[in-house]
Amino acid sequence: MKRRKLYEGKAKVVYETDEPDKLVLEFKDEASAFDGLKKARVEGKGALNNAISSALFELLESRGIKTHFIKKLSEREMLVYRAERFPLEVVVRNYAAGSFVKRYGVKEGTPLEPPLVEFFLKSDELHDPMVCEEHVRALKLAPPELLPEMKKLALKVNEVLRELFKKKGIRLVDFKLEMGILPDGNLAVVDELSPDSMRLWDERTGEKLDKDRFRFGLGDLLEGYKEVLSRLKN
Ligand code: TMP
Ligand code: ASP
Repeated sequence: MKRRKLYEGKAKVVYETDEPDKLVLEFKDEASAFDGLKKARVEGKGALNNAISSALFELLESRGIKTHFIKKLSEREMLVYRAERFPLEVVVRNYAAGSFVKRYGVKEGTPLEPPLVEFFLKSDELHDPMVCEEHVRALKLAPPELLPEMKKLALKVNEVLRELFKKKGIRLVDFKLEMGILPDGNLAVVDELSPDSMRLWDERTGEKLDKDRFRFGLGDLLEGYKEVLSRLKN
């Protein structure tokens, strides 16, 4: 099934397959933060992120949201449609955290109502600078006429994931999506949906279950990710 390695990122390897419009994503046992400045090998992380991403993509698909997901292939591999990806990170925030707190000086955990959608240019070298719609247009980061659809898609994903996590006693604080155009021409959610790219706080204790554990040394990374998966499965 796997063929040529197309691309290796910090947390995943992408392979071409026999079919030109399908790719294999392999989730690595590597953790990275601060644009690759902090790195570690974390045995078992790939399998957890693949399991969590697959479950979340399945849920989105079942709610009629377009994604690149086809199926989970093995412990650390997922089959996806090849998409024309935009070099953008679309962030949805329900509560203030992370760079939002740093940038605007509000207290961590402040509710943002209605949820906020932000765009960032995906570039480690440039440290993912925030861009507005005019930058997306000027820098040709995505077709500008798609921006309203991209925002709508991001907010719909937020609605579905927020409701799911709420049922599991987890607060969806914020998350990052990547988007692209599928072979059938549809705008879709691509990349992964895992605790690497979202902030998840235990509703009762406030414990952080996501990659902030690794970023700021808040506790064992895998324990948080395992807790997220076990709640999704129950
Ligand atoms: P931020 O508060 O650092 O801007 O992050 C917002 C959300 O996006 C958070 O859930 C973490 C996620 N994220 C990524 O997935 N990749 C990144 O490169 C960055 C900076 C954030
Ligand atoms: N995802 C980025 C990295 O791996 C930044 C981060 O998540 O902190 O470096």
